[in-house]
Amino acid sequence: MEGSHRRRRAGRFDAAASLAAHVLPNTLTPWIEQARLDAQMIIDRTSGKSPTPLLNDMKAPAPLSEVDPLNLLPRGIAEKVRAAQRDVRLLRDRLILGKNPPPLIERPGSAAGAVVSLPGKTPSMARPVKVVNVVHETNDAVSIYLTEADASPLEFRPGQFLSVDVTIDGERLRRAYSLASACLPDVPVHITVKRIEGGRVSNHLNDTIQEGDELAVLGPSGNFTVEPRAVNERHLVMIAGGSGITPIMSILETVLRVEGGSRVALIYGNRGWDDVIFRDRLAALCDEFGERLLVDHVLEHPPEDWSSSKGLLSGDVLAARLEALSIQDDGLMRYFVCGPTPMMEAADELLQQLGVDASRIAEERFTRPEDRSGEMGSDKTELVVISKAGHDHGIQVEPGQTILEAALAAGIDMPFSCAMGGCGACRVRRAEGEVQMEEPNCLSRAEREQGYVLTCVGRPLTQSKIEVVGA
Ligand code: FES
Repeated sequence: MEGSHRRRRAGRFDAAASLAAHVLPNTLTPWIEQARLDAQMIIDRTSGKSPTPLLNDMKAPAPLSEVDPLNLLPRGIAEKVRAAQRDVRLLRDRLILGKNPPPLIERPGSAAGAVVSLPGKTPSMARPVKVVNVVHETNDAVSIYLTEADASPLEFRPGQFLSVDVTIDGERLRRAYSLASACLPDVPVHITVKRIEGGRVSNHLNDTIQEGDELAVLGPSGNFTVEPRAVNERHLVMIAGGSGITPIMSILETVLRVEGGSRVALIYGNRGWDDVIFRDRLAALCDEFGERLLVDHVLEHPPEDWSSSKGLLSGDVLAARLEALSIQDDGLMRYFVCGPTPMMEAADELLQQLGVDASRIAEERFTRPEDRSGEMGSDKTELVVISKAGHDHGIQVEPGQTILEAALAAGIDMPFSCAMGGCGACRVRRAEGEVQMEEPNCLSRAEREQGYVLTCVGRPLTQSKIEVVGA
């Protein structure tokens, strides 16, 4: 009883500090942050916890900029305010900016190979953007510079992605590509697309995209992001493999430019030197930011005169690189990991072994429908209760149907974007029952531990209840 009371008070300190930081001048933010950490320490001491947050079994405090001041309110009221905020955003997007909800899409099925149509939505809700420049970063990767082709500005947060909607040979396909540019005023916005063997959209874009073309995109979306603030002084450790550099590049450059006291270490794995996307841009950033940026290239097939790190980014190689670079976790470092699934798993396992709490690890997994397992859920119709904005809706999910498909067919307005397990927009909390998801998908370990599931690749195994939370 005592413990839970103190935890709630600590959470409200965070929220109160966040509110104060929002409404008071920026110059006071460091004082507010210090007061918050001091309050947290006093609470931890009086509750018998260790006096320092540097021990691995304690959760590092969330950065103040990422604490939601709505946490000050009782949970039920906060959820209602969030729902109202979402409704206002939706109305603004629909009525003022002319954006519509996400589109009807067709996606290739997984093991069954069926084409699945998402029902009940207007056919086209993607917005048009214009290609203003095309830069071939490597033989297999192209940066596509974009500008808005409608009245609404192309805004995003560092690390987010756009879902690109293209029609190839009469089939409508959608894929997510990260915005790799720094998130700063007047910096040209671009996505970067790496060619994937057999990937229809990535090859199509690499081979055919030209300046002056128009693309249809949704988003930006994604939670693999940071909120840069000039007062932050943090140490980010980034682990990227191949095209996993794209969201990391956006975060890295934005943080370095906005947060004068922050440092970044990047371990970046590639097959060969010619495969390194943003090779020159990273070198220029190293020159510009000196000790604040450390870039460690690891090559599987290095050139003969290569004297730096070699090998695949396995757990052993990563551990060796962290040691060689003298990166020792101080209990506050934040980790950003994006790359091929084996690298993600190796990094995840290593960070767990090092005692890094999942709350300090951000992961981005991009997956292709073609690569996904064919988990089909229950072999009989299951009842799923969807709890949304204070109302419960019961739906019947047929064998093979995803929860998203069944919910949309029942007329429930559900959040989603890519509809292929790659963006997290359809994330909901599982309150009861069992939900089976196609793997791999973009959910992080921390999200899974917190009970989140993706409705677009999730099928019930039993009667279940899910809660639609957040936007
Ligand atoms: S809609 Fe993108 S993961 Fe489900």
